[in-house]
Amino acid sequence: KRKILILTGGGDCPGLNAVIRGIFKRAKKEKDFEIIGSIEAFNGVFHDPPNLMKLTKKNTSGIHVKGGTILKTTNKGHPFEYPVINEDGSITITDRSDDLIERIHKLGVEAVINIGGDGSQKISQRLYEKGLNIIGVPKTIDNDLCSTDLTFGFSTAVQVATESFDRLVTTAESHHRVMIMEVMGRDAGWIALHTAIAGGAEVCLIPEIPYKIENIVRRINKRYKHGKGFANIVIAEGAKPQSGEAYSQKSDELGYAHRRLGGIAYRLSDELKSAGCQADIRETVLGHIQRGGIPVAFDRILATCFGVRAFELVLEKKFGYMVSYLNNKVTEVPLKDATREYNFVSKTSYLVNTARGMGISFGDE
Ligand code: F6P
Repeated sequence: KRKILILTGGGDCPGLNAVIRGIFKRAKKEKDFEIIGSIEAFNGVFHDPPNLMKLTKKNTSGIHVKGGTILKTTNKGHPFEYPVINEDGSITITDRSDDLIERIHKLGVEAVINIGGDGSQKISQRLYEKGLNIIGVPKTIDNDLCSTDLTFGFSTAVQVATESFDRLVTTAESHHRVMIMEVMGRDAGWIALHTAIAGGAEVCLIPEIPYKIENIVRRINKRYKHGKGFANIVIAEGAKPQSGEAYSQKSDELGYAHRRLGGIAYRLSDELKSAGCQADIRETVLGHIQRGGIPVAFDRILATCFGVRAFELVLEKKFGYMVSYLNNKVTEVPLKDATREYNFVSKTSYLVNTARGMGISFGDE
């Protein structure tokens, strides 16, 4: 049988299982293929003996509805910067890419499908340059990958955030409060912007448009004086003031940077108070709730289309590509283009314009 290795890397994301099922079901139509999953991204291949899962009808049946990934995932298995723990407990970062490729070939694998975000697809491109037959599938709730209009998982995150926002509105209204809701998104404001429009926020703070605290206080005061006497703010975890930095990141023991969830929501709350905001303020940090659980229908569909197309790229031997959703079509783009730049929200986009048109303040004016 012709063996295809698939893996999920980086943070989990609603729709991962739908991609896995899509690849498996499409491959099954060809009869001579075997799909093998590497457990915990590439770590399954590095494991001695390899930690792999043969995909079957039984273990993939109905999984498109489930959150998470049946193949498990990690962001601690970068083959080019692999953390090796020494006997004395110290850590050496090692390039294990050649070892990885050799192990993959030893397994008799014909091609690899790497389902992951920005970091994972950069790895795909580097492995492709080293001669590996590899295809990328873009995944992330953050929607921060360029060369695809959307990533699966994003719509679910926006749905969860919007439902949470709606719940916070009633508390804001009943108590005459300012409610701050922090959402994820890494260095991009996609989740925050979509949620602010869907929920009808007064203020939306995103990394792409640094804010001035005085502008936000003015917007809140106006709302208390002439409006309904409460306000709802959506803030992206990467948002930053015009003077100053994004909320600081901390590094874990392996050197991976993490933004401490909740940092920016509480900082904003303090800044508002210091700037003279008199209202009662409360903070909510959605955190990983945005990433877990069942995918909404759109994400299941997009993820399934990506899975099917990724397998078809294997059939066509079109390696070094990432499947993508462009102009309402599922297609593919060269990995090197897909990973060239980060997908920020454009300040002049129709979405920002719509938000401004609806009276949502970005805190910049
Ligand atoms: O990329 C997905 C994401 O959820 C980001 O929105 C967030 O910044 C990050 O991952 C959190 O990572 P972790 O789960 O490792 O703390």
